[in-house]
Amino acid sequence: MNRILLLLAGVASLALLGSGKVKAQAFQFPTLPYAYNALEPNIDAQTMEIHYSRHHKAYYNNFVKAADELGLAGLSLEEIFANVSKYPVTVRNNGGGYYNHMLFWEILSPTSAGKPTETVLKAIDTSFGSFQSFKEAFENAAKSQFGSGWAWLSVGANGKLFVSSTPNQDNPLMDVATQKGKPILMIDVWEHAYYLKYQNKRADYVTNFWNIVNWSRVEELYLEAYKQK
Ligand SMILES: [Fe+2]
Repeated sequence: MNRILLLLAGVASLALLGSGKVKAQAFQFPTLPYAYNALEPNIDAQTMEIHYSRHHKAYYNNFVKAADELGLAGLSLEEIFANVSKYPVTVRNNGGGYYNHMLFWEILSPTSAGKPTETVLKAIDTSFGSFQSFKEAFENAAKSQFGSGWAWLSVGANGKLFVSSTPNQDNPLMDVATQKGKPILMIDVWEHAYYLKYQNKRADYVTNFWNIVNWSRVEELYLEAYKQK
């Protein structure tokens, strides 16, 4: 009898895998891959703790609640973002906040190589002419985003890289984005990301951001995005 039950459970699991329903498990709150003080002096420990354990956690909790209520558990974040304008705005704001921060923690590192990998550098050169041109475009996007938002480096549908900025918790995967693509590098320019240390000097925060970029992770994201384009 137990064997039959086990067999049935196995078949049910496979059916679930085949239907894609297991994607609901993707809505997990990520572990921060380093200590709160690991990015000092570029980002201070108190900012990291509040940013991760309060702001990011709140976006996550609110998104999961909305996703449950709306029956979105079987969809991936990418699928949700592709139609985000059709859902209540809480999905856009909190789903964006959940995803954007998850990626942001990953592309930061206390042991940054300080410069892009060869693969990423080649892609940047092809799209922007030089690393300096890209850096200026990215910094301008970060500094000129009025109010809260993000600056992004993304892979477009044509495989080329582009820089953009988005307000609030929008991102380039969303159907509401002016420029759509797959993000591979981003900076959070909400005041909660830098105000304790930098106060009104967003430009200094943006300058120091380059000291802590995890270019290996950027390369992984680039290769994944490039394959899927
Ligand atoms: Fe943030």
